[in-house]
Amino acid sequence: MKRVMTAVLLAAGIGGGAFAHQGATGIVKERMEAMSAMKDAMAVVGRMLKGETTFNANEAGRAADTIAAHADDMKAQFPDTPESRQKASEATPLVWQEPERFNRLADELVAAAVMLSQVSADGETAAIASQFQAVGRACSACHEDFRQKK
Ligand code: HEC
Repeated sequence: MKRVMTAVLLAAGIGGGAFAHQGATGIVKERMEAMSAMKDAMAVVGRMLKGETTFNANEAGRAADTIAAHADDMKAQFPDTPESRQKASEATPLVWQEPERFNRLADELVAAAVMLSQVSADGETAAIASQFQAVGRACSACHEDFRQKK
């Protein structure tokens, strides 16, 4: 279980490490902070599933709600403006070439996170672990084409 959870976090590009986002301003800074908040929320649930922290259904549910809220906000955080395309951003130009696909992937993350919130309330670890992986896949699915590889 522990190895699987670490793999999920790494695949989502959220395995820790410093991000080269120095100098980001305005909307870019805002969306980077939102992404980081989702990363932290994933880590909260990941640590529970790895047994590093005590499982707490309310906390897992709150983390899932945080992800769902930021995922929904995301659709307004990538306007096609010069500020949005500033150099510090790690977004690929595809964000503005394929906005419909981008928004659909954001919606898929919303749906996966809402489901994670629901299964967290039920408190059944296997279901939570499986939905946690689905959320991780939704992060990766977007990063694959829309976030620059380092
Ligand atoms: C619909 C697309 C999309 C989804 C879904 C998505 N991301 Fe991102 N993510 C991006 C883009 C684009 C960037 C680069 C943003 C920028 O630098 O302007 C990014 C950047 C990041 C960063 C780096 C932020 C920084 O400080 O530079 C983290 C961490 C991150 N995402 C975590 C996540 C996590 C965790 C999830 C899932 C819970 C997720 N993302 C889901 C598109 C997405």
